[in-house]
Amino acid sequence: MTNKSIQTALIVDDEPDIRDLLEITLTRMGINTYSASNLEEAYSHLSRTEFHLCLTDMNLPDGNGIDLVSNIQKNHPNIPVAVITAYGSIETAIAALKAGAFDFVSKPVELSRLRDLVDSALRLSQQQENKESKVSDAQEDKLLLGNSETMQKLRGQIRKLARSQAPVYISGESGSGKEMVARMIHQLGPRADAPFVPVNCGAIPNELMESEFFGHKKGSFTGAVENKLGLFQAADGGTLFLDEVADLPMAMQVKLLRSIQEKTVRPVGEQKEIPVNVRILSATHKDLNNEIDEGRFRQDLFYRINVIELKVPALRERVEDIPLLAETMLKRVADECDIPNARLSTDAINALKQYSFPGNVRELENIIERAFTLCEDDVIHAVDLHLQDNSSDARQTIDSAPAQQRNGVNLEEYLETIEKQTIEQALEETRWNKTAAAKKLGISFRALRYRLKKLGME
Ligand SMILES: Nc1ncnc2c1ncn2[C@@H]1O[C@H](COP(=O)(O)OP(=O)(O)OP(=O)(O)O)[C@@H](O)[C@H]1O
Ligand SMILES: [Mg+2]
Repeated sequence: MTNKSIQTALIVDDEPDIRDLLEITLTRMGINTYSASNLEEAYSHLSRTEFHLCLTDMNLPDGNGIDLVSNIQKNHPNIPVAVITAYGSIETAIAALKAGAFDFVSKPVELSRLRDLVDSALRLSQQQENKESKVSDAQEDKLLLGNSETMQKLRGQIRKLARSQAPVYISGESGSGKEMVARMIHQLGPRADAPFVPVNCGAIPNELMESEFFGHKKGSFTGAVENKLGLFQAADGGTLFLDEVADLPMAMQVKLLRSIQEKTVRPVGEQKEIPVNVRILSATHKDLNNEIDEGRFRQDLFYRINVIELKVPALRERVEDIPLLAETMLKRVADECDIPNARLSTDAINALKQYSFPGNVRELENIIERAFTLCEDDVIHAVDLHLQDNSSDARQTIDSAPAQQRNGVNLEEYLETIEKQTIEQALEETRWNKTAAAKKLGISFRALRYRLKKLGME
């Protein structure tokens, strides 16, 4: 621990042997320990001493560990509590996480796992004390914009979930901000200094999947010329974000479940299991319950990754956030291309508020960027937004982006090359007179300036 102040832990277990083991392990880590053999003693300690961590058994003579978790959540929300569960009783572990436990460890207690857990918990307490969480409140607001009630609630949930190790399943429509939410959960928690590793599960070719996730040993298959670390190991100590988790093939779902349960991975061609310590967050814009009904997603995996579900609201459900989002994005595009900002007219704002945004925040970003480049003066009017009320067009643009990545063709780069060539030609033909070139290209002077900046052609 970097902090010199002494850390104090409360240990609650009715078995003296386990209490001893926990006390010895924690004391060796330089932690002060207090022990209780039942809930009553635990509450009495809690009322007298300030703790940085609590470890509790599940079955106690006068109640169970989940009662203690709930009580601490309510009365001492800053103390992370971890529960010790009987071997194989995953249901209990999940119930404890849902009640607000920070993490769990199963019996027989593996000491290295226990130490990892204690380290994480103490980092949390320290973050709290030093108020040195990676992202301050102000920055946090900048990240995930919106002052609607649903967004405020979401930010509150994120802050709370950041303090837990529970797997979180983030649901929400395409472009609503699921990945942003996942990043925030990581950044605000005790794993913030370790990597956040996002994986687009739909973008990995089937035959490479196992090696991508778990790594491989040199020579284990044709093409395996080096040892390779998998994504789990890359995320060790941090967070693995399984994006588009519904796209995982069945065979991979089984292997993933195993790794999540055992907290180990076995690289392709390797004999032994390697322990990993990752927090799993996942997301998809598909309805996982429906995928399960259709037999495309394993119920048991769903159960493991969906301990807590976080819903990201669609943009049309928080219309009041649209002006703030639109204006912030407008300012960002203008700053990025170093062009004086434009402003949104009242009719433009109203049109945005009435639009259904099938592609959510991402679609709003695209609309704003396009309108900014196309508007003639420095006011964006409703017509400049080119909103289609039959939203199928928008939907297509949104859905096609990941598909291009999937096929490995980089459409963006390709289009940029064409754009560059065309602009260059127009500039040459007009002897670098930008006004004339813009006219020739059929775009506004502003649009030309924007493109020159964006393409780095100035
Ligand atoms: N509340 C918000 N404030 C500011 N920007 C946001 C917000 N929500 C989303 N965005 C922006 O919208 C875009 C889409 O967000 P993100 O990639 O997190 O969505 P997603 O739900 O993961 O989308 P998909 O389903 O397509 O994977 C990003 O550019 C992100 O920065
Ligand atoms: Mg996403």
